[in-house]
Amino acid sequence: MEKYVFIQTNELVHQIVKEIKELIEKKPTALLCIAGGDTPKPVMEKLVEASQNDEIDFSTCYFVGLDEWVGISKETDGSCYQTLDDYFFSKLKGVKPANICFFNGKATALDQECERINQFINKRQQIDYILLGIGMNGHLGFNEPGAEITKEAHVIELDMTTKQVMGKYFKTALPLEHGITLGLKQILNSGKIVLMATGEHKASMIAKIMNSEPTNQIPATLMKMAGSAVTLYLDQGAAQNL
Ligand code: GLP
Repeated sequence: MEKYVFIQTNELVHQIVKEIKELIEKKPTALLCIAGGDTPKPVMEKLVEASQNDEIDFSTCYFVGLDEWVGISKETDGSCYQTLDDYFFSKLKGVKPANICFFNGKATALDQECERINQFINKRQQIDYILLGIGMNGHLGFNEPGAEITKEAHVIELDMTTKQVMGKYFKTALPLEHGITLGLKQILNSGKIVLMATGEHKASMIAKIMNSEPTNQIPATLMKMAGSAVTLYLDQGAAQNL
């Protein structure tokens, strides 16, 4: 796992946008996955700009969701799907709705929902580029501490830290107990895995990740097993304890 610290956050954003642009030029039918938290929002904004300026053509790309809170979906402010839609999908030029596959956290049969997502990925063999944020407990998507490395899409019980942090996404308190997420197997199998962390509040978790052997107690450390496929991009705040 290579680590890069950027002096300016916009340089970090620029690097990721450049990588995605190069990938799509090489493979116009690339399958992309972008996390729905706060961290990737500046990247989404720049990707939208590039799409609007005809610098990146997303019209033949595919998109798969990373995760969602069980019990809510696109119509709820703060859901992962609505975040992606507001900041990204709805603003891209020429994207085909059929090319977007996102978890419906309100599905009654969540097993089938997982299967639908698995099939969408399997049809394209792998995710070509996955942009991940890192949770305050080291989670990736909703692969919480203790997550199994062999799993594909699945439903999990939210960790206590995730429940403490989740208020920042919603205007009112929601009684959410579970998440639905791509599994670590699918994440590790991606062509390019980018872990992005910005801000001082992530600094102690970043130091923990860098100083730890791979363990599923800190899911982000497992990305060290993906060798050169994985890159950790940090701003100065997130890197301050290294
Ligand atoms: C959230 C989401 C993830 C996200 C991570 C970090 O709970 N489930 O998709 O990447 O935690 O979120 P943020 O970028 O808001 O810090």
